[in-house]
Amino acid sequence: MSLSLKKATAYTVGLGLVVASLAACSSSSTSSTGTATGGSGGGSGQLIGVFMPTTQLPRWNRDGDELKKDLTADGYKVSVQYADNKNDQQISQIETAINDNAKVLVIASIDGTTLGPTLAKAKAKGIKVIAYDRLILNTPNVDYYDTFDNQKVGTLQGQFIVKQLGLDAGKGPFNFEAFAGSPDDNNAAFFFKGAYDVLKPYVDSGKLVSVSGKWPKTVDDWKQIGILGWGSDKAQAEMENRLNSFYTGGKKVQVVLSPNDSLALGISKALQNAGYTAADFPVLTGQDADQANTVNILNGLQSMTVWKDTRAEAKQAAKMVKEILDNTTVDVNNTTDYNNGVKVVPSFLLAPQVVTKDTVQSILVDSGFWTKKDLGLS
Ligand code: BGC
Repeated sequence: MSLSLKKATAYTVGLGLVVASLAACSSSSTSSTGTATGGSGGGSGQLIGVFMPTTQLPRWNRDGDELKKDLTADGYKVSVQYADNKNDQQISQIETAINDNAKVLVIASIDGTTLGPTLAKAKAKGIKVIAYDRLILNTPNVDYYDTFDNQKVGTLQGQFIVKQLGLDAGKGPFNFEAFAGSPDDNNAAFFFKGAYDVLKPYVDSGKLVSVSGKWPKTVDDWKQIGILGWGSDKAQAEMENRLNSFYTGGKKVQVVLSPNDSLALGISKALQNAGYTAADFPVLTGQDADQANTVNILNGLQSMTVWKDTRAEAKQAAKMVKEILDNTTVDVNNTTDYNNGVKVVPSFLLAPQVVTKDTVQSILVDSGFWTKKDLGLS
């Protein structure tokens, strides 16, 4: 992986000492699924702390629920915490779990560059750490990483655009707008790099025209078009701004690179408000197969999503927890690519998959990810 992770240190914010009591944590936690002990799996009620960024983005709710279910079935006591996308709140939640002698921390970080001091405390108590979905940077105290192949997500989005527009058959030029994910999310760099590498030749040859001029000059400049916190509203406002400023006099946008579904939702709304319909909708990418986006795909208001089966990701993390606590070999499939600035973190990468209107049924419904009813199909 050629992307420099060192740059991420620029995001390190000065952390005050966070002294978290259990009471402070529960009052600052906007949403928690609470604690459950269960199962017959032999986990002997050991405490596992699970930390998700926010309940506001659909996928993290499912991740939290699945992790709770799988770990409880293995016999662990599980505490799942959501932090309303507030980094200090997440740190305070993690510190509480350390004070409570959790055995393993499973963390989907909000700002993965800021957890060093907290994880040093975990290390001092022998607590193991799994970075969940997002790599935790600049600390030696992260033991494993469980994620999807993030760069592949972007590659699939780029390849979809090339195929859909017939760029290799010489079609074009097409009016093109690009978006990137949250600048504080390490994954966003990989998503963008995957797509950038595929699309750059077509921008350079003039087949994709960056009408707003916002296509970054180099891949490392992606943060210029990043949407902080992955907010739908912010993406909608940015798309509206571009439409109002650059698409006047009948000029139409024909393709939009969106790194995920929360952004695509806002972008799709902006396009619909500007009068685009399924008949002239631009090619629009996404990621996560969120419910509203899947419905949009069925209605021609988004072209594709890159699906990451979060149930499989949660299962893999639960398996890692068990392997760690059973003192057996932890199953990883990548020991070279994920350097967090201090060390290469042994990783398990799952494979993302493209979903279009034609495959919603066979991929998302048949696998039970969504029911027909969820998608308004019955
Ligand atoms: C995840 C995506 C998600 C995004 C916003 C990323 O780190 O990998 O699945 O869409 O965060 O929550």
